Amino acid sequence: DAAEKSGYDHYMLKEIHEQPRALRQTISGRIDPDAGSVDVEVDLPPEYIASIEEIQIVACGTSNYAGRYAAELLESTVDVRTTVEVASEYEFDGGRDPWRTLVVAVTQSGETADTLSAIRRAKRAGARTLAVTNTLGSTIVRETDDSVFIRAGPEIGVAATKTFASQVATLTLLAVHIGRERGTLPYGRAQELLDSVRQLPNAVQSVLDAEDRVREVAREYVDSDAFFFIGRQLGYPVSLEGALKLKEISYDHAEGFAAGELKHGPLALVTEETPVLALLTDGSRPKETLNNVKEVQARGAPVIGARTDAGDGSSAGAGPGGADASSYVDVDLPVPAIGDLEPLVANVYWQLFAYHVANEKGRPIDRPRNLAKSVTVE
Ligand code: G6P
Repeated sequence: DAAEKSGYDHYMLKEIHEQPRALRQTISGRIDPDAGSVDVEVDLPPEYIASIEEIQIVACGTSNYAGRYAAELLESTVDVRTTVEVASEYEFDGGRDPWRTLVVAVTQSGETADTLSAIRRAKRAGARTLAVTNTLGSTIVRETDDSVFIRAGPEIGVAATKTFASQVATLTLLAVHIGRERGTLPYGRAQELLDSVRQLPNAVQSVLDAEDRVREVAREYVDSDAFFFIGRQLGYPVSLEGALKLKEISYDHAEGFAAGELKHGPLALVTEETPVLALLTDGSRPKETLNNVKEVQARGAPVIGARTDAGDGSSAGAGPGGADASSYVDVDLPVPAIGDLEPLVANVYWQLFAYHVANEKGRPIDRPRNLAKSVTVE
């Protein structure tokens, strides 16, 4: 067992650290940077891609948040309405020609009962289905029209970590592929997105290199009453995922909020005993979120902020009038400037934070109570 964990105390920590390698596998051989094109080995004919009228993503748990991240990118690159639903709530409504609705199931295991059942409903109604999964030979692969593999390698920890990163990276590649085929994604913007994907492994490594700092921060706040994660745009699904990770393995109360919604209710929960983890990177509307940071600071909450590091020690983008986001937060966590996927890199800070809070509490991190790696009942 110890050998399988390669010296790490838990599979979860090992898998957090495997992310640069997993991401390299995800990307390997799939990008042609000169052409601004992508090959994710999916058999979606060009005529079909041109005819897509809507994309519906269905998924559960962490995979659902990966889907939400991707939907933000898909809608702009592919230029069709893209919805994301929790698989257990999904009802297919595909208009007059259901085949023109592409229903994408995102599932690490390929065996989640709710996701399988949603896909079966979509198929029965006549939609085209596509699986984005980590597991060759899984049920979802057999039951969908096409599959794309995220290639993250086996994940043992119940709390998903490296598969989230590889799901978002794969879905970003898929968005570029479909956008280029449809002619809706300009070459320059495709290049930008592909650059962001290619820089992911090194950017994630730089966050992993800062683990000692995150451990200190976790120790400082371990006894808090609750933890709130806030972000906008691409930072919103990452906030939901950050909170999910923390509640799954530490059993603490943690919630993710769209930063703009704070004032509509959650602010009533904010005290000196509730740290707020804020996404202030590019891709998450840092200027607007900084205003929310000030609102929670005024209520005494400590703020842990992940912000873009422009490379010169200052933060890029964030802060009204060019003010430095780092001067507004109690704990300042820099994220390399790589564009759209910066919130995904920041997520690695939230993973490490969750891990170290749970570890301080002595929780059974790889086998949290009441949870299963793959839920095969509806
Ligand atoms: C379970 C796991 C989660 C996972 C979810 C969806 O609840 O504990 O970590 O995100 O299932 O799993 P899937 O295999 O469909 O991605």
